Amino acid sequence: MKVDVLLGLQWGDEGKGKVVDVLTPRYDVVARFQGGPNAGHTLEFEGKKYVLRSIPSGIFQHGQINIIGGGVVLDPVLFREEAEALEKSGVEIKKILKISKKAHLIMPTHRLLDAANEQMKGASKIGTTGKGIGPTYTDKVSRNGLRVGDIFHNFETKYQAAKERHVKMLTMMGAAADCESLEAKWLDAVDYLKGYELIDSENYINHLLDAGKSVLCEGAQGTMLDVDYGSYPFVTSSNTICAGACSGLGVAPNKIGEVFGIFKAYCTRVGSGPFPTELFDETGKKIRDLGHEYGAVTGRERRCGWVDLVALRYAIMLNGVTQLIMMKSDVLDSFAEIKACVAYKVDGKETRDFPYSIEEGIEPVYVTLPGWQTDMTAIKSEEEFPQAFNDYVAFLEKELNVPITILSVGPDREQTIVRKR
Ligand code: GDP
Ligand code: IMO
Ligand code: MG
Repeated sequence: MKVDVLLGLQWGDEGKGKVVDVLTPRYDVVARFQGGPNAGHTLEFEGKKYVLRSIPSGIFQHGQINIIGGGVVLDPVLFREEAEALEKSGVEIKKILKISKKAHLIMPTHRLLDAANEQMKGASKIGTTGKGIGPTYTDKVSRNGLRVGDIFHNFETKYQAAKERHVKMLTMMGAAADCESLEAKWLDAVDYLKGYELIDSENYINHLLDAGKSVLCEGAQGTMLDVDYGSYPFVTSSNTICAGACSGLGVAPNKIGEVFGIFKAYCTRVGSGPFPTELFDETGKKIRDLGHEYGAVTGRERRCGWVDLVALRYAIMLNGVTQLIMMKSDVLDSFAEIKACVAYKVDGKETRDFPYSIEEGIEPVYVTLPGWQTDMTAIKSEEEFPQAFNDYVAFLEKELNVPITILSVGPDREQTIVRKR
């Protein structure tokens, strides 16, 4: 068997959590491959709403195994809060969740370093989620990290050494290094991890594939936040692209099956960094209000704009997307006209290729399409789609050259239409 991958094609928050939940019944296992509690994946069903940060979004279906993979960075305190809340709502989390020993631990000092780095950058700050993501991945790459599997291997000594290094760095940066108050709770939460099955997830997943089991890999963030191919330096610190599923789970490239690329019918971004199709006018505000575009974790206002097909084509290329999933089309239900950016004008020249930098001098070239002006939220099948909506979908498929197989018309699990193929 091969693994299927579901990942974001824009700047995150495309609706990954919702669709992973919807697709989970097709699989035996769901595995998160990168990122950490910077993610906020929202699921809605039976009138309830859940936001998952480190735990995969396959947790609510029929007992599938869920895995936190080796490419993830885990904050034990936030993980514990998330897990205990799920337990309270009836999820037998300890039975169905396994954690890779190779996942790296986010320490309290990583969060302090995240804040100090941002402060030093001043006006050019990244606008991180403040969860210690960058410093934890930095420690991983510079071979100073602490891994989940270290819990059983001389942990106290390793932790103290890492902490001392961080305190020195913080002191040099002139930042507060007071982590004592956070330490006891963190160490307690590290101990809590021992209540879970800690696995070598690469062996585990490959054995499952050999046994004919199906696996869905869940990405976090989005392609335009990828550390190598996103809008660097305004990115996160991991590989959010499909290759990240290979490295984050220990799955070989020839084991990748379907790649589901998910995007909103428009586009959003949180934090700093370039965003060519951003709208600063009433239309941008209307999208934010109708789409409730506020961060699932931080509550920050998301910047809103028209869909960017140049960036989407680039994301499709990087990920080898085989199926597209379009989210939140209902947010555009009342618009008389909808725009889509089909090319960029760079120094007066039109290009359909994504350039090295989108920081300045990019002028989006738009095509305007008629809106469908129909309430889509109660629609149950593709036969009910209004013609203008079908035309919009056909236009995107032609521009992107990949079929749109799933359409989401509302936040609830039920408001999802899988097209017949
Ligand atoms: P993720 O990080 O990719 O999982 O996405 P988020 O959960 O951060 O953001 C997506 C938001 O849109 C959440 O509040 C979802 O409940 C909501 N949502 C998902 N799909 C739809 C949809 O089709 N229509 C509307 N109106 N909301 C949606
Ligand atoms: P999900 O999985 C949207 C953004 C932050 C910031 C940049 C770096 O819910 O789609 P970090 O804390 O990772 O160092 O911040 O990345 N960012 C996200 N934006 N959705 C996310 O996750 C994000 N995770 C990080 O706002 O601009
Ligand atoms: Mg999110």
